[in-house]
Amino acid sequence: MKILLAPMEGLVDSYLRNILTGVGGYDICVTEFVRVVDKIVPKKVFHRLCPELETSATTEAGTPVIIQLLGSDPSVLAENAAYAVELGAPGIDLNFGCPSKIVNRKAGGAVLLKSPDRMHKIISAVRAAVPCPIPVSAKIRLGFDHTDAALDIAHAVEGAGASYVVVHARTKADGYKAPARWEWLGYINDALSIPVIANGDINSVEDYRRCREISGCEEIMIGRGAVSRPDLARQIRHDYQGEPCETMNWAEISHLLMSMAQQMSATVSDKIILGRIKQWLAMLKSVYPEAQHHFDEVRRLSCFSEACFEKFRLALFDG
Ligand SMILES: Cc1cc2nc3c(=O)[nH]c(=O)nc-3n(C[C@H](O)[C@H](O)[C@H](O)COP(=O)(O)O)c2cc1C
Repeated sequence: MKILLAPMEGLVDSYLRNILTGVGGYDICVTEFVRVVDKIVPKKVFHRLCPELETSATTEAGTPVIIQLLGSDPSVLAENAAYAVELGAPGIDLNFGCPSKIVNRKAGGAVLLKSPDRMHKIISAVRAAVPCPIPVSAKIRLGFDHTDAALDIAHAVEGAGASYVVVHARTKADGYKAPARWEWLGYINDALSIPVIANGDINSVEDYRRCREISGCEEIMIGRGAVSRPDLARQIRHDYQGEPCETMNWAEISHLLMSMAQQMSATVSDKIILGRIKQWLAMLKSVYPEAQHHFDEVRRLSCFSEACFEKFRLALFDG
């Protein structure tokens, strides 16, 4: 049983990967997408999106971080995949799910779901360029505006030699609307022989159990639920192993928030730290009602200077 931490642009960066894999339960992380257009992406861009390349491509807890590429040109993607591996990436994931209009206009992300043949070409080219032991995976949705071609898409991924496929159980047109269509994970899982990793709306242990029952997929990728419930992967893993698991309380979550702010303060501006903490508190609100009060407190801060940092600390622990 494997649990992957989802790529989430602007949300799950190396700081949050460190915090969440430190809590435990994750086997693999995937970076935010690296945009590939028509040439080799500079080394500094790979290192910005995946600073873990400096430390054997693992988080501080030792969890491997694989690199996600987004683009549409098979040969340029293949060159970049080979380069990412040369830089130390332990795996390459290809993005076929991004719904962004700008990305789709440039023929990248979810728009490729309309052309399973092109997906096949891209994955085959990347597979051929990357040494055999290094996994090449694809992250797909069920289709662009309908599910009619979902199985063709899945077969194209498998036929091109992907090591596994992550299926976000929605079409591009569905956006992020709940509920995810877990039944489709089952249809795809039945049709393929490579591992099918279930993704979409797994926000609790109960969701995991139901998704597994409906789809037959044991392996999962967790996105937003990982941020709003930082110990979700650990809870799911313990439940799967039939072991009891204490859930994290607000004091423990506060420590995580402080720890992230502290880690960021070495390299990142106050404004960015504050924005990230607010973003995280906003997501924690759905699970921890305490987060609302702290969100309001932190919203009043305009900077993250020492004085503000102290105020933030007090807001978290004494508020
Ligand atoms: C803010 C945000 C950014 C995302 N960025 C990426 C990305 O860079 N690459 C990708 O493949 N998917 C991206 N996704 C999609 C997620 O990886 C995931 O497939 C989706 O959120 C569904 O899973 P969930 O219901 O567990 O959140 C993003 C989602 C969100 C909400």
